Amino acid sequence: MRRKVILVTGAAGEIGTALIEQLLQQGISDILSLDIRPLPPSLQSKVIHTVGDICDRALLERIVSEYEIDTIYHLAALLSTRAEFTPEAAHRVNVEGTLGLLQIASDQSDWRGKPVLFIFPSSVAIYGLPDLSTKAQFPRVREWEWNYPRTMYGSNKLYCEMLGVYYSKYYRQLAVERPIMVDFRSVRFPGLISAFTVPSGGTSDYGPEMLHAAAQKKSYACFVREDTRIPFMAMPDAINALLKLAAAPVERLSRRVYNVTSFSLSAGEFREWVLRSFPDAEITFEPDLRRQAIVDSWPEDMNDNDARRDWGWQPEYNLERSFLEYLVPNIQRRYQKY
Ligand code: SER
Repeated sequence: MRRKVILVTGAAGEIGTALIEQLLQQGISDILSLDIRPLPPSLQSKVIHTVGDICDRALLERIVSEYEIDTIYHLAALLSTRAEFTPEAAHRVNVEGTLGLLQIASDQSDWRGKPVLFIFPSSVAIYGLPDLSTKAQFPRVREWEWNYPRTMYGSNKLYCEMLGVYYSKYYRQLAVERPIMVDFRSVRFPGLISAFTVPSGGTSDYGPEMLHAAAQKKSYACFVREDTRIPFMAMPDAINALLKLAAAPVERLSRRVYNVTSFSLSAGEFREWVLRSFPDAEITFEPDLRRQAIVDSWPEDMNDNDARRDWGWQPEYNLERSFLEYLVPNIQRRYQKY
């Protein structure tokens, strides 16, 4: 018999480490994690970790021969800024990597006669508003509006959402005997902010970077204009969204891809919040016009009514709680020596 596991890809990343910690806290320890990097030392002895590339088919096949995969949290991705430097490599990881995992999930579903649950974080980056006046006119986008991403990462995420829907509804639709479909579910996250890790390679990174720099008494030059407004969410809510969507009864889901968000604020307001707790912080604005253009194409806010209605989504950390109860105290502790 193969051991039944939850597979987490991108396990050493920001969402991955937070998700694994939460799963362990809930007493779930049959976790197989995969990443091109080792896990942080605090997690190393607690899960089965494989260092490897999600694009390595031989590795994925070996994993399937050894484990029965019940659920996949497919978190591995190259984020929006990094992907612009190596678009083809991003496509390989973000799209081909996802396709390989969907295939494995599909084979496993068929083999065991029960759908594999496939949870996929998508992003605000799948939206693309053409200019600032349109951005102002459509401040709270619905899932089907403005799906015109202008980055490789956003395009990859949007297409993978579609692939996921295809694998959960139409895969091998002309075959005489239809296989068991994958149970694909996805949330579109806003910019995520963790107190314990600093993101790398994203374009919403100016928020968390500002905060982590202030706690280390380092000056920070924000790469977008003060009036730039996008939605954000504290990491515990992101993990909560993934777990809640995974636990929702399938008959409650009216869609496979949901917006989820918590609070929206401008970069200037972000600075004000940082200054409340770190009054000596030196934060200036030096927009990088190319990264600015990417953030300008993202909406100010996302309408997450469907997630609230279908599976009871509700952020626990609004703006105030995020800063005062989660981010600031934990970040202060983390950088205490400064
Ligand atoms: N935080 C991500 C990025 O900036 C968006 O999903 O790329």
